[in-house]
Amino acid sequence: MNEKKFDVVVIGAGPAGYVAAIRSAQLGMNTAIVDEMVNKAGDHVLGGTCINIGCIPSKALLDSSENYSRVLNKFGAHGIKTKDVSLDVEAMIARKDRIVSQWTSSIAALMKKNKVAWLKGHGRLLPGSKVEIVKEGSGQSEKVQAKNVIIATGSVPRTLPNVAIDQDNIVDSTGALEFTEVPGKIGVIGGGVIGLELGSVWRRLGSNVVVLEVMDTFLDMVDSQVAGEALKEFRSQGLNIKLNARVLGAKSTKKGVSVDYEDDKGKHSIRLDKLVVAIGRKPHTEGLNLNEVDVFVDESGYIHVDDYCSTNIPGIYAVGDVVRGPMLAHKGFEEGVMVAERIAGRKSSVNYDTIPWVIYTWPEIAWVGKTENELKAAARDFKSGVFPLRHNGRAMAMDEPTGLVKVIADAQSDEILGVHIFAANASEMIGEAVVAMEYRASADDLACIVHAHPSVSEAIHEAALAVDGRSWHQ
Ligand code: FAD
Ligand code: NAI
Repeated sequence: MNEKKFDVVVIGAGPAGYVAAIRSAQLGMNTAIVDEMVNKAGDHVLGGTCINIGCIPSKALLDSSENYSRVLNKFGAHGIKTKDVSLDVEAMIARKDRIVSQWTSSIAALMKKNKVAWLKGHGRLLPGSKVEIVKEGSGQSEKVQAKNVIIATGSVPRTLPNVAIDQDNIVDSTGALEFTEVPGKIGVIGGGVIGLELGSVWRRLGSNVVVLEVMDTFLDMVDSQVAGEALKEFRSQGLNIKLNARVLGAKSTKKGVSVDYEDDKGKHSIRLDKLVVAIGRKPHTEGLNLNEVDVFVDESGYIHVDDYCSTNIPGIYAVGDVVRGPMLAHKGFEEGVMVAERIAGRKSSVNYDTIPWVIYTWPEIAWVGKTENELKAAARDFKSGVFPLRHNGRAMAMDEPTGLVKVIADAQSDEILGVHIFAANASEMIGEAVVAMEYRASADDLACIVHAHPSVSEAIHEAALAVDGRSWHQ
């Protein structure tokens, strides 16, 4: 049988892969995308971790649970009286599933519109610029010729040797998006991004949540002042966050889960209804046949690439979670575009210094650029301005006074080096800081920009003014 020929074959249809495929097709290249993911109904789906079991479903549940929590805890202060408020978890999960399936259908429609061939099954590299697509279960396979291959196979959750995931009582993030009723007691191993987001979902819906974090510091990558405020706030919301807690083992029992852990006070045994393991993710390269085609993998399991996502083998590229850098959907989008454009002969690049991060707790934590600790470690002179949200009129009107904005600038040039926000809707505010940094603005540039009043974004303005000690409202 004649093998089909493509200019570009993308393996993995998450954010990095599907955008790489769209951009390749837009640039006139004959493109195929390979993915093995199937949904709960057993149907093949596009969108990868982000759309199916990551960004989108988690944000759907975060919104639902925040709405519920507002009705219970915040409506009263507005003079809105409610009674007989009740929760239908199945309806909440069904809404989340509907959003996911709308999105995956949209991605399929985009592939069709851009004439990208969707090859369903497990992709593996073969010598001679070929990709083999193995159909699960049937043992059948198809080989295609690829002038260029873009590997975008993403990441999978890390596991602990003495904590077996059964996706029933002991779950990873995927299982924690599927509980059909509110568990009485949940344990979360890992006080990172997933632990806090999914811990918040179930806490708001009524679970007792204990977070067991092995480090003695909280959110190490976040500005330490923001992390300190956030820890206080999340604890006051009822998340029982235990630092320096080392899990020794966990067992699924008939009635739930028993967990043994150790902290400063000694050894403890706790009984829970559900345990969520969220201790980070690792690059997913299993079954790609990288060895046979001589693609280098680094000591941490990431596919080794240069600044432009080229591997050591000409014509083979890798993008997204499977390569170095933050495991974020938007980082993958940009790498996918860069690689497609470079294959087409353009000189595109990604500015890794201005990739924003958001943790979708409430309030949200968002930042871009360096933290003070990173700058101190690099012996760089800096100055910072901080503006607490309790001095912001809109935040007060919204009843959302918790949080702060910090702007960090170079001590001599005044160039903005980092912006850190802990605020309601920080995810929407951080864009302004990203634009400013992309254009290498100074704190004074930000301070000179007119901000609408009243808006929470004025806190960014005030923090920029505070860099020079001239904030107006504190
Ligand atoms: P993935 O999305 O992991 O996609 C890889 C795809 O490759 C998958 O579909 C997989 O089936 C397929 N695949 C793998 N190997 C093969 C093979 N050999 N053959 C065929 N197919 C293969 N990031 C954010 O930026 N914002 C968020 O709010 C956010 N929330 C998250 C919430 C959760 C619960 C989780 C788990 C992650 C979240 N992330 C978030 C991270 C985000 O999901 C990832 O950074 C992003 O999905 C990575 O994109 P990717 O394209 O590199 O890989
Ligand atoms: P993470 O790296 O954010 O957090 C893992 C936490 O687990 C860390 O605090 C770590 O110290 C702790 N830990 C590690 N081993 C442990 C152990 N044995 N016992 C107890 N604690 C332990 O990883 P997480 O939360 O699993 O998320 C994975 C990645 O997915 C994130 O780093 C991020 O890149 C991405 N993501 C992004 C989101 C967003 O952008 N809003 C949301 C969710 C995930």
